[in-house]
Amino acid sequence: MWFKFTLFLLVDGVLSARQSRFVNVECKMLDPSYATYKKCNLKILGRGVVALNVHAVLQKGPFNNAKVNVCLFRKFNGYRPFMFNTTVDYCKLMADRRKQLSFPKIVRDSLANCSNLNHTCPYEHDIIVDNMVFDETFFKYLPLPTGDYKIQIMAATDNEWKTIINIYIQWVFD
Ligand SMILES: *[C@@H]1O[C@H](CO)[C@@H](O)[C@H](O)[C@H]1NC(C)=O
Ligand SMILES: *[C@@H]1O[C@H](CO)[C@@H](O)[C@H](O)[C@H]1NC(C)=O
Ligand SMILES: *[C@@H]1O[C@H](CO)[C@@H](O)[C@H](O)[C@H]1NC(C)=O
Repeated sequence: MWFKFTLFLLVDGVLSARQSRFVNVECKMLDPSYATYKKCNLKILGRGVVALNVHAVLQKGPFNNAKVNVCLFRKFNGYRPFMFNTTVDYCKLMADRRKQLSFPKIVRDSLANCSNLNHTCPYEHDIIVDNMVFDETFFKYLPLPTGDYKIQIMAATDNEWKTIINIYIQWVFD
């Protein structure tokens, strides 16, 4: 099942605010017997401020291994893969306390403050992202041109893709 929430009215405000925002999010569980989405939406917190909320209920578990693929797409004629497509070992990433910056670590650290995805494996509880406000530090290290982007996040356990989350972002670079 796809949850969709398109903020038509907001897009107008987004363009005039000249700031980068989440504009849409879609969550799809490929194996509903494994987990289901209870929540997947964007919430307007205030003028022009949008927050991402996700709540997935694990039906099976715990899991001790997970693979996450993050692929950036840019909209030209439809969304095309752009700049990076990387797969990380989630359990290793959570256990890695070294300081080198990488995009997966930036995502991990942004999530740590607003989710329960802040510990090492195993995971046996619901997965909750609560009011994640799009933060420009997220892309600070990437010289992205102004445009419409999609971040596609796929997660697998036991080498089987279980879920896809698409986050649509309007990126404005001044
Ligand atoms: C990303 O890379 C993986 C592995 O190299 C590949 O299988 C996949 O098709 C790529 N994704 C896209 C959207 O190109
Ligand atoms: C998370 O919160 C801590 C303490 O409030 C703050 O120092 C840190 O910069 C935050 N990290 C991110 C990525 O927002
Ligand atoms: C993870 O986040 C929860 C909720 O914010 C917090 O109670 C917990 O102490 C955090 N755990 C770690 C290891 O930071």
